[in-house]
Order: sequence, then C-alpha cells, then structure tokens
Amino acid sequence: MSQTEVLAGKTAVITGSGNGIGRATAKAMAQAGANVVVSDVIEADGERTVQEIVDAGGKAIFVKADVSQASDAENLIATCVTTYGGIDVLVNNAGIGGGQLRLHEIVPEDFDRVVNTNLRGTFLMSKFAIPHFLAKGDGRIVNIASTYGLVGAPKAAAYCASKGAIINLTRQMAVDYGHDHIRVNAICPGYIDTSLGRRKATLSQEEFDAATARREKAAGMQPLGRQAQPVEVANVAVFLSSDGASFMTGSIVTVDGGCVTTFNYGEASN
Ligand SMILES: NC(=O)c1ccc[n+]([C@@H]2O[C@H](COP(=O)([O-])OP(=O)(O)OC[C@H]3O[C@@H](n4cnc5c(N)ncnc54)[C@H](O)[C@@H]3O)[C@@H](O)[C@H]2O)c1
Repeated sequence: MSQTEVLAGKTAVITGSGNGIGRATAKAMAQAGANVVVSDVIEADGERTVQEIVDAGGKAIFVKADVSQASDAENLIATCVTTYGGIDVLVNNAGIGGGQLRLHEIVPEDFDRVVNTNLRGTFLMSKFAIPHFLAKGDGRIVNIASTYGLVGAPKAAAYCASKGAIINLTRQMAVDYGHDHIRVNAICPGYIDTSLGRRKATLSQEEFDAATARREKAAGMQPLGRQAQPVEVANVAVFLSSDGASFMTGSIVTVDGGCVTTFNYGEASN
C-alpha cells in the first residue's frame, strides 16, 4: 500500500457529496483507495461527483438521500452494504446554512430545517451505520461541524446551535463507542470557498455578490488571510478516517486558517 492509498480496501459513505467539501472529500477518499458512496439530495450534482471519480480511475456509486429522513438514511447505508459488502467510514457532511437573520426573526420551520439537516441527519446516518461497525469491530465517523459551532457568530442562531450540538455529539459518541473500536471525530472548517450560505438559486445576483464579498472580507481578516479550497478540508477527513489517526477519537479538529484563535469575525455569517 502506497502512502497515498491509506484507505485501500475501505468503503466510505459521504453525505452531501454533490458539491463543495463533500465532493472534494469523496474524490480524496477515492484517490486514497476507498470505494465511495456519493450521496446528495440533488441527483445531477451527485452523479457529477461519481463521474469525476470514475474518470480519475476510482470506484463510486450514487445514492440519492435526504439525511433528515430516516428511511433515506437507512436505505443509503443498506445500499452501501449490499453494493460493497460493508461500510468502514461515514462522513456526515451534508449541511445547510440558515440565512442572515437574528433569532427573533427566524420562523420556526426554518430553524427546524437547519437542525434537521445538520444535527438530525448526523444522528440518523450514524444510527444506521453503527450496527455494521459494531458487527465488524471497527468503524470511523467524521462529522463536519464548523467553527461556528465553537463560538457565537452574527445572524446564525440555528446554524451555530446545530453545529455546537454536533461537536458535543461527537464527544458523546466517542465515549459510547470507544471500546468497540469505533472512532468518532469532528472537523470544524472555517471559511471554505463553496456555495454554502450564498446559493445562487435562492439569492439575487446582488445578494450573491454581497455574500461573496462579506466572506472574502471576513476570511481576509483571519491569520492565514484567505478562504480555503474544499480539498484542504477533505485531506483532513481522509487522515481522520485512516489508520494514521488510530489514537484519535472525540477530537474536534479546526481547519480554519487560524480563525478561532482571533476575535474578529467581520460581518460574514453562514
Ligand atoms: N463552506 C464553509 O465555509 C463551511 C464552513 C464550516 C462548515 N461547513 C460545513 O461543511 C459541510 C459542507 O458544506 P459546503 O460548504 O460544502 O456546502 P455546499 O452547499 O457546497 O454543499 C452541501 C451539499 O449538501 C447537500 N445537502 C443539503 N441538504 C441535504 C440533505 N438534507 N441531505 C443530503 N444532502 C444535502 C447539498 O445539496 C450540497 O450538495 C456542511 O455541513 C457545512 O455546514 C462549511
């Protein structure tokens, strides 16, 4: 096994892998030798990720799933096990932002939508994967949280609450499953150059440009002074899923260019 094939023979499910960090993680895991299950609510985006993996010589299938729905989450894990004979790695990446509102302005349904996707989705996917990890005596879960789960950030109540909960859920799961050789870690990305929080489909061009400018300005004020590319998060997800991280569980790993070591969050919000 070469240094680059640290996941050879493993099977990995990555939720929300039709775009951004999820897509980069699916590609990085395939490159590291894993069989990959790409999953997303948007079929065309997920199929594009699969195509990019296959074109690069990797192995991947697509399964459509909304992680907030128990039946979808159960079917996603079952399809992975049927297709590849098991599951070794679960990356709970699917997530959405919550709009630019203060708490009293948020309608309850929108709060629920964010929490159901980010937190309930992480719970459901883990719930259906863990029995397979227990049967095998080995498993690796990587939860994609956020620096916004470590601190308060402007106009992001639902998002901050859901990500903070994912961080402590990560620690809790590490406690419950450590003796079963199931490692559970979280990554807290900072400003990553994806379309999260500024989706063109739901924003006017003016709003999209303003959101992009806000993020670039906020990222510019952090120690490394820039947004990251999704692959810079994906590389850490591969490491945490590999035997190289064999003594890591319950770890909350910031991949944020030094963001939470400072005070300044500018005007940007996810
Ligand atoms: N981009 C950042 O700056 C940043 C910072 C911190 C944390 N994160 C986290 O990283 C993760 C990935 O975000 P991204 O920036 O790549 O965003 P993105 O919008 O580019 O990708 C998210 C993907 O998740 C999918 N998705 C949304 N709801 C879903 C659902 N219910 N079920 C399944 N899939 C669903 C979307 O279709 C999309 O393909 C999220 O959890 C996000 O909160 C991102």
